[in-house]
Amino acid sequence: MTAQIIDGKARAKQIRKDLKGRVSAFEERAGRPPGLGVILVGNDPASAVYVRNKERACEKTGIRSFHHQLPEDVTQQHLEELIDQLNQDPEVHGILLQLPLPGHLDAQPLMLRISPSKDADGFHPVNVGQLAVGKPVFVPCTPLGCIDLLRSAGVPLQGANAVVVGRSNIVGKPVAQLLLAEGATVTICHSKTQDLAGHVGRADVVIAAVGRPEMIRGDWIKPGAAVIDVGINRLDDGSIVGDVEFAAASERAGYITPVPGGVGPMTVAKLLENTLEGALRIEQYKLQD
Ligand code: GUN
Repeated sequence: MTAQIIDGKARAKQIRKDLKGRVSAFEERAGRPPGLGVILVGNDPASAVYVRNKERACEKTGIRSFHHQLPEDVTQQHLEELIDQLNQDPEVHGILLQLPLPGHLDAQPLMLRISPSKDADGFHPVNVGQLAVGKPVFVPCTPLGCIDLLRSAGVPLQGANAVVVGRSNIVGKPVAQLLLAEGATVTICHSKTQDLAGHVGRADVVIAAVGRPEMIRGDWIKPGAAVIDVGINRLDDGSIVGDVEFAAASERAGYITPVPGGVGPMTVAKLLENTLEGALRIEQYKLQD
């Protein structure tokens, strides 16, 4: 079997096109465009690229982005004050604090400080809880992108055996919640899991989110399975590979996402969607006041 490639770039482009009309309708009604406050700390080159992609996509879609570049040695207090200011700013409907942060900063209290109503990343514990009780408000962007790709490819999720490899708060745990909500039977594997190959081999759907180049071997994949590769790993020669051994996995899988051009563009598209939806909730609330 040769897998069908799930084209995340094309799907993300479609989402952005659909959003454009909704964004301009919002601007007409609200008198201002949806706004995203973006905080980038330090000089991590990968984070700088991700943030630039997110801000460019905002601009193209008609969402205004407010860029806050802070030095590597910024204090926790300075960041808290900036978040307070963005929470109060009526032009800002979503706030994105790009992770990871430099080691001297504590991300968790900062995420708690972002107003849950502006938490475009869905990382605030209130939004994490909303998802866990099956009443999602803001849901993390990468997990939303994974589910969208599975749905748009027509992969059945109800009753499917789904294996998530990776238990991060950003991807592994929330994507497991979303799969559960879709009616999948979900197993979360991680660095302490025994017989990872066995778990992956029984999965109808595999979500690879570990951040280790090609650690999911192609010959582990169950024939016909859908494989969503969240990994973006840069090798010493400068090339970028996912968490899945793509060529070999493509021989067995029914569906597979490429790296790059799979989940990456979807994260950006879902951030735009979250920002617009947050803006709609905020403005609607004002109209009802
Ligand atoms: N770092 C890696 N992925 C993400 C993301 O989706 N949001 C934020 N804020 N930081 C990240």
